[in-house]
Amino acid sequence: MRTLAVSADGPDAWTSWRDAFARVAPDLPTVSWFDPAFDPKNADYTLVWEPPPGEMARMGHMRAILCTGAGVNHLVNRSDFPANVALVRMGGDQTAVLMADYVMWAAIGLLRDAKSWTRQQTQHVWHRKPVFRNSADTRIGILGFGNLGAAVARHLAAAGFNVSAWCRSPREEKQIPLFFGEDGLSDFLPSIDILVNLLPSTLQTRHIIDAAFLSRLSKGAGFINVGRGDHVVEKDLLAALDKEQLSGAVLDVVATEPLPATSPLWDQPRITLTPHMASEASRDAQAAYVAQAINELENGRTPPLLYRPERGY
Ligand code: GLV
Repeated sequence: MRTLAVSADGPDAWTSWRDAFARVAPDLPTVSWFDPAFDPKNADYTLVWEPPPGEMARMGHMRAILCTGAGVNHLVNRSDFPANVALVRMGGDQTAVLMADYVMWAAIGLLRDAKSWTRQQTQHVWHRKPVFRNSADTRIGILGFGNLGAAVARHLAAAGFNVSAWCRSPREEKQIPLFFGEDGLSDFLPSIDILVNLLPSTLQTRHIIDAAFLSRLSKGAGFINVGRGDHVVEKDLLAALDKEQLSGAVLDVVATEPLPATSPLWDQPRITLTPHMASEASRDAQAAYVAQAINELENGRTPPLLYRPERGY
């Protein structure tokens, strides 16, 4: 049986990974990447999040690298990334449902202006201001219709929102109206009340959400970022909130993480910040997904979320 070396989340995470794999994939031998006796040559697969600098150069002989992130831009842009090795992105049902739950929470928070309730509670103010905006009359547009974008779109549609999505190139889709390419963006952006970013981070999508982009949304739209911080020009986002082009934003990802204490994002009253935790599945759920992907590879099949260099994700 092939051996999986676990590097994800550093040496302190090893015992929890070991126990998770023992529970959900007892036949898969695992070893800690950080064990002093460990030699990478003795492993066939490795599970990573952000390996220490230089360590990826020791993974060039692996049958695959599996990443605990749904996004792998932070790996493929490193100089030590072994481009010849297959790279598999995180997926699975729990990852998708967690993301859908987060976006649902964020969308409803924007609709009901939940920030104003928090402010009132902090100030011991009992002020009733009815809000009539609701899921049935809200159009949510999802940027990106990959594994997570599609799962979020279906959840929100099932909950009664009017959902559409935008993606790079045409594809077959029966349930969710899709817009494609630059032309599609011109129809998509003005037609939504809340924009959800779930794009992969690539050279093409970096800083895509800038002043010009935000000005194409209908006035007072909401924005939820669960993609990557580098999709957004943060000063343009702040300006759009200041002039009420955007009514609110929920950000799980920012350009610099952790967000520096001096960042103006902290204090913008229309921003809700969460510390990049929208969708982190349990160890057991991730271990089961990894074991399944290894099983596919061992049987000569292509796991669904294989990184494709020509696409950049
Ligand atoms: C986290 O952002 C991930 O890529 O899963």
